[in-house]
Amino acid sequence: MTDRKNHRFYAACPWGLEKLLEEEARSCGAKRTRATPSGVAFEGPRQAAWELCLRSRLASRVLEEVGFHDYWDSRDIYALARSVAWENYFLPSQSIRVSVSAHRAPLKSLDFTTLRIKDAVCDHFVQACGSRPDVDRDSPDVQIAAYLDEKYCTLYVDLAGEPLFKRGWRTDKGEAPLKENLASGLLMLSGWEPGTTLLDPFCGSGTIAIEAACTACGVAPGLRRHFAFEQLLSFEPETWQELLEDAKSEVNLHRELRIEASDISSIVVGKARANALRAGLAPLLEDGRLSFRTGDAREIVPPEGTEPGLIVANPPYGEQSSPRSATVGSMMRKVADNLKHAFPGWRAWMLTSDLHLPGEMHLKESRRTVLFNGPLECRFFRFDLVAGSNRRQKKGGAGRPGTP
Ligand SMILES: C[S@@+](CC[C@H](N)C(=O)[O-])C[C@H]1O[C@@H](n2cnc3c(N)ncnc32)[C@H](O)[C@@H]1O
Repeated sequence: MTDRKNHRFYAACPWGLEKLLEEEARSCGAKRTRATPSGVAFEGPRQAAWELCLRSRLASRVLEEVGFHDYWDSRDIYALARSVAWENYFLPSQSIRVSVSAHRAPLKSLDFTTLRIKDAVCDHFVQACGSRPDVDRDSPDVQIAAYLDEKYCTLYVDLAGEPLFKRGWRTDKGEAPLKENLASGLLMLSGWEPGTTLLDPFCGSGTIAIEAACTACGVAPGLRRHFAFEQLLSFEPETWQELLEDAKSEVNLHRELRIEASDISSIVVGKARANALRAGLAPLLEDGRLSFRTGDAREIVPPEGTEPGLIVANPPYGEQSSPRSATVGSMMRKVADNLKHAFPGWRAWMLTSDLHLPGEMHLKESRRTVLFNGPLECRFFRFDLVAGSNRRQKKGGAGRPGTP
């Protein structure tokens, strides 16, 4: 029987993308959504959470809440975990892993708390079913997550399993690859629409270009993978099949597109192409709507016969060297000179951890958005390219946009 009851969920995402994730969640049927730092809490039927796993381009995980209480110490957390009717979620024959994350939790040891939650789950099962689940740290059937703040403990069962940014196609990686959900977030923040030519001149493993092509062609990110909720007792194969069939029917690989990605390393370009093939984008590669080539970002030119479009890229940060690598700085200056000269009317978005990038490029950004690439605090800069203009003044700080 189809369960239409409302449950509580939490979807996590990279910091800075919460509002966009909230829109995604609503479009999957989530109700009473609430954006928090790095995620969105919501309510809805389980189908909404499954659909979010399947369709979200931004979420890293989707969790179902199974317990919530205030606590004083780990004894209270044990009592909470012991009180959850785990047998309604999974079988004692399935393996588990418990993870705990905390923000300002007044506890001495999170490892000890993790152990106590595992004990509570097992003790509950022994009492309720006469047997207990095994722990499997590497590939458990069921992942239990606890989140502790100063006062409250929330217990969740993970619905995704492998993090959702793992779409299944990126087995070949270049240097410092972006997570797929952050790449999609950059595209959304940039306002890119499939009718606009898109360039990534620092494409690495092709993440931005492939995410863009999949978005344009309606390829849901989860179409090629499995999810942890398929192992839970609440799973309804028929409902899931319907969700999958709906998503499959939206795939259209014939969309008009122009996405050009390049990188100075022929090795990573080969990897990017292999990733695109694994993502099912062969028809786009064959007729050139999506292309990967080896090239230097200092010398790129706009594709012939196209209107000014969008550049979305994350150039090398050079954060390994301190102070920042002079080589990367002078390269970015040359990239900027070329952009100003060859791309009038285009808009370029660059993700970097280097706050000085606009100064190095002698360009004034028209927008900056704070994002995190993993633990690295970054800025997503927007530069509006107008021939010979929007340069920074050499002295006296930033020039106004449009001042020569
Ligand atoms: C931070 S990585 C980009 C990662 C990429 N977004 C991904 O998800 O895999 C920067 C890339 O810039 C490339 N690169 C460095 N200098 C370049 C240049 N002058 N022209 C083009 N690509 C360059 C590097 O080979 C590297 O792949």
